[in-house]
Amino acid sequence: MTEKPRILVTRRWPDAVERVLAAQFDASFNASDVAMDAAALAGALRSFDAVLPTVSDRLPASLFEGGDIRTRILGNFGVGYNHIDIAAAGHYGVTVTNTPGVLTDCTADIAMALLLSVARRTGEGEREVRAGQWTGWRPTHMIGTKVTGKTLGIVGFGRIGKAMAKRCHFGFDMDVVFYNRSRIDPAEAAWCGARQLETVEDVLAAADFVSLHCPGGGENRHLINPQRLAVMKPEAYLINTARGDVVDETALIHALETGIIRGAGLDVFEVEPNVPGRLRALQNVVLLPHLGSATEETRTAMGMKVVENITAFFEGREPPDRVA
Ligand code: DGY
Repeated sequence: MTEKPRILVTRRWPDAVERVLAAQFDASFNASDVAMDAAALAGALRSFDAVLPTVSDRLPASLFEGGDIRTRILGNFGVGYNHIDIAAAGHYGVTVTNTPGVLTDCTADIAMALLLSVARRTGEGEREVRAGQWTGWRPTHMIGTKVTGKTLGIVGFGRIGKAMAKRCHFGFDMDVVFYNRSRIDPAEAAWCGARQLETVEDVLAAADFVSLHCPGGGENRHLINPQRLAVMKPEAYLINTARGDVVDETALIHALETGIIRGAGLDVFEVEPNVPGRLRALQNVVLLPHLGSATEETRTAMGMKVVENITAFFEGREPPDRVA
């Protein structure tokens, strides 16, 4: 019998998936669930046939340099892979896969939760009740912004962007406009009540709520910058469930502090898990710890996608979700 591939799982995964990995591979797990540092990841690339990283693992080109790479596949647990230097992986002959499709609904649900929460001030309200500071109902108490019937602007009309459009159009009678780099068939967009506009600025200017659903890294870094924040309506809100680096966080904080926009709902941050104190001090933001895909069903499905990808790879088949 041939030897099983040696694989490393960098963080704790759902038990059901770890059991499958343990049965099918010579698997090492990270029982402490502490994020691995650069030296440990560089060592892993030289000792395991597959490394299964997540968004909390940074794999820049420097980790591959020097060669002697044993790893043949990085089976990423997550759809976003801007934490991996794809060019460097390719240069060293390392295949990279991700987990698209299975986290679409749950990520759109979190975007919707943030939108509702920041517009209706539920975070502030909850903090008030928990602090024992609620003095009772009154007509002018904690007034928020109506969501139904407003305009949603989406940046990035992929699976998750479309799922967000669907929720807002069918659930909240919202008009939906979007920016997407490539042209989307108008009939497909119209199905969820959406219209494609020419530029990011067109979308920002039209929207009462802007929701980001584009990949992070590369040319999307600081896509939302001071100039673009200034194009948004002063009463508009920004929702980010994509990647922290899509937004210039310092510029966003300034915009929130000075009323350039009314509020923000954020699930992702520029340097996770560090959330700047100035952002945490603001009442007009809702802050979540990168929970987009965090449901039992979705995290298990993500893990099983990685299993499918590395199983195909080691059996000599094309992995279904190869990105490089
Ligand atoms: C994803 O799948 O990209 C999530 O943000 C976790 O990495």
